[in-house]
Amino acid sequence: MGSAPAKVVLLGEHFVVHGTGALLCAINKRVRVTADIRGDTIRIRSALGDAVLGPGEALPAGHPLGPLAHLAARAISRFGHKGGLEIAVESEIPPGVGLGSSSACCVAAAGALRGLFADPDRADSMAAALEAERTAFGAASGADSAACTYGGIIEYDSISGHHTVEGPLLRLAVADSGRAHSTAEVVRKVDGFRRDNGAEFADLCKKVSGLIPRARAAIEGGDLEGLGSCMSENQECLDRIGVSDGVLRSMVRAGDGPSYGAKVTGAGDGGCVIALADEECIGRVVESLGAASEGSFAASVDPSGLDTF
Ligand code: PMV
Repeated sequence: MGSAPAKVVLLGEHFVVHGTGALLCAINKRVRVTADIRGDTIRIRSALGDAVLGPGEALPAGHPLGPLAHLAARAISRFGHKGGLEIAVESEIPPGVGLGSSSACCVAAAGALRGLFADPDRADSMAAALEAERTAFGAASGADSAACTYGGIIEYDSISGHHTVEGPLLRLAVADSGRAHSTAEVVRKVDGFRRDNGAEFADLCKKVSGLIPRARAAIEGGDLEGLGSCMSENQECLDRIGVSDGVLRSMVRAGDGPSYGAKVTGAGDGGCVIALADEECIGRVVESLGAASEGSFAASVDPSGLDTF
């Protein structure tokens, strides 16, 4: 069995696809994947649907279970397995709202499948998960997979990978706009913005790159005001690239008042908004965001990342 947490992006979504750093935080909602050696087919059961694949068979492009089928086929060939596999997914993470449900699912499945044939290895499970995710969304930066694999708060960029950021455990309010997005489509839209507005996009990347060390120092120093203001500045950049609309902006405003700072998290164009809080104000922030959205909850940092057992 493999289990991996959801994630939120504290800073840098979209820009990380174009080479900046990002800061992410794993949160306490999980997906659990069991993998068993059974029969002679690949059988997958999940809330997204069920699939049964005979030897050598693949799912059509764009099928929501494609990444899981890829992971199963990869495990069969990599570990020289002769029979079938059964994979079952149970998730507390809502899909398509910026909380990393597909990455968490791939990471948990990669860990569970590896656990059937070899010793646990986080780096190997993350690499397999990212490869699977890229079969569906080729531009995936790897930031989500790293957060879901390693847990805690991480700094990530596609060249130097992930580094853990140590600091006091954060409290976050998460609010759902009730509108799911396709990350691949929103990333394509942002690429269109970049092509049409090259100089402005380069400036925004520079700005986000400058926010990362400031925010990291704020986390390490327990400075919630400093981190919150970096998040608010990042939100202005997300607004400029067109992934935050009227509904998301009004959610951000509702979160901003009682919190240290609020922003869209993940791809945007729907999905979730996060607001940074502490023990004292988390109740008020969740309530204020709840009134402006389709639902909100209090989250804390998941320190453990991928668990396999
Ligand atoms: O909305 P999500 O959870 O798929 O987050 C996507 C984050 C992006 O930066 C937009 C894409 C990526 O691969 O980093």
